[in-house]
Amino acid sequence: MTEHATQVIAPRYGGPEVLQAVEVEVPQAGPGQVTIAVRAAGVNPTDYKGFSGRMSSDPAALPIRPGYEVAGVVTELGADTELASGGGAVGDEVVAFRIPGGYSSAVTVPAEDVFAKPAGLDFPTAANLLLVGTTAADMLRVVPAAAGETVLVHGASGAVGVVLLQLLRARGVRALGTASESRFDEVRRFGGEPVAYGDGLTARVVALAPAIDAAYDCVGTDEAVDVSLALAPLGRIVTIAAHGRAQRDGFRAIGGRDPESKVYRDGVRAQLIALAGAGDLVVPVARTYPLARAAEALTHLANGHPGGKIALIP
Ligand SMILES: NC(=O)c1ccc[n+]([C@@H]2O[C@H](COP(=O)([O-])OP(=O)(O)OC[C@H]3O[C@@H](n4cnc5c(N)ncnc54)[C@H](OP(=O)(O)O)[C@@H]3O)[C@@H](O)[C@H]2O)c1
Repeated sequence: MTEHATQVIAPRYGGPEVLQAVEVEVPQAGPGQVTIAVRAAGVNPTDYKGFSGRMSSDPAALPIRPGYEVAGVVTELGADTELASGGGAVGDEVVAFRIPGGYSSAVTVPAEDVFAKPAGLDFPTAANLLLVGTTAADMLRVVPAAAGETVLVHGASGAVGVVLLQLLRARGVRALGTASESRFDEVRRFGGEPVAYGDGLTARVVALAPAIDAAYDCVGTDEAVDVSLALAPLGRIVTIAAHGRAQRDGFRAIGGRDPESKVYRDGVRAQLIALAGAGDLVVPVARTYPLARAAEALTHLANGHPGGKIALIP
């Protein structure tokens, strides 16, 4: 019998107000596929950027189906199909990334993108682990940092930032992290030394550390880029949010669609799930919203200070 699901889509380009909940058919799981009853969908800034029209406004790409990651329960496995983490059966709790259309009550996706969910992770946390986790790991692939070095992380209180802080701490790297003052405790919690962004940032960083070995930009403001260029060697600056400046000023920018990044990020998923399952990597969830209130959730995220990850609950 064909299963139906509620899915949130963007039928046209615009702000979160364009989102609509629609009924969709969930394809049966064929060979190499898994159907998941979604318990939580992860929410990321790239979701609203994708239908904002700023990256592309090609009418042929509509409707946009946002949501790259979910956690849920397997309801069907295709013939001769195993999860990426091995085995798999109806009833298994899983996490899936990178998939399209995650803002849905059910999805059928390639089994190679589906992993067993560690029992210790709740659904909203598991649904928010892999996009930010693989991004932070990829930043360290492009600009590695060694024990004893001092680095600067812009947006250290953000979702990617806190994962990066934890990966740096595990490597014995000293990290200064920019945040608003109300978020300083979050930076400290994950091993960073907080420094307020805004006018005078360069001087505040230099007062804490006269030499910066590398800079990781998880914000993309001109201030973050200018301070990075002033303090770190050009070859050791990487951004995930200031692609225009990176091209103009000659430092690295990465994105999940870059072929090298995609291969690396796919390959590091299992390792990040294991770290989180062991309690060695924490992705703090600030709050959840019902799936039907996705527009409100994205408006909250787009204000730039979500205070942690957001999950949608079907
Ligand atoms: N290229 C990629 O592969 C990739 C992957 C993931 C994310 N991204 C992008 O990376 C960015 C961060 O993502 P996220 O999920 O970490 O976002 P997030 O959780 O919303 O974090 C936003 C961060 O930006 C800080 N911030 C806000 N306004 C600022 C300002 N004017 N100056 C300096 N810092 C400011 C916030 O600090 P306070 O809250 O302390 O104010 C917070 O640390 C987004 O643009 C996202 O689209 C790119």
